Amino acid sequence: MLKIGVLGSGQGSNFQSIYDAIAAGTLDAEIRCVAADVPDAYILERARRLGIAAEFIDCAPFKTKIEGAGARRMLDFLAAHDVDFVALAGFMRIVKEPLLSAFPERMVNIHPALLPAFPGLASWKQALEYGAKLAGCTVHFIDAGMDTGPIIVQRAVAVRDDDTAETLHARIQVEEHIAYPEALRLIAAGRVTVEGRRVRIGAAQEL
Ligand code: GRF
Repeated sequence: MLKIGVLGSGQGSNFQSIYDAIAAGTLDAEIRCVAADVPDAYILERARRLGIAAEFIDCAPFKTKIEGAGARRMLDFLAAHDVDFVALAGFMRIVKEPLLSAFPERMVNIHPALLPAFPGLASWKQALEYGAKLAGCTVHFIDAGMDTGPIIVQRAVAVRDDDTAETLHARIQVEEHIAYPEALRLIAAGRVTVEGRRVRIGAAQEL
């Protein structure tokens, strides 16, 4: 069973989708704790209401990365809650040392685009402005780059002529909430192996 620590900065709808999959019995995992780098992030409130340990972790002096003392504070928090797997869910920082190396092939992220297209911020907006006909989301392992790690699951969304950034993002989020539990389910079942950039999904075990 995965003992997950969830890291977020915002609403926490992806955290909720993971929680719901576990509660529904479709994901063999436990969310041990939730951490946010923003003190009033709604993800903390959501977690506390569900009885999950949730804390603000100060990542200062950096604004766009977690590194050094902040990363050590995060590691201490995750260790205190016996976490063996980290899921970034709307966590708006690049992961640096010593956090980066602490969970080899045990740290994943969800990104609101079909990577490698549109890494970085507000990717749904980037896709719309570029004129892409397909948008979507990607669950990937974390590596040293920004949104560059090996891809586990992707789900596509057709861009409509009348889409705004908001309507497109909303449809992408519907797919995110399917993709994230699906990726974790594959990992929890031991079906995921990483071979360089490629993630292979093994056959389901016969019961
Ligand atoms: C999602 O769109 C995710 O892909 C991106 O940030 C957003 C987080 O949403 N990285 P939430 O906090 O899970 O609701």
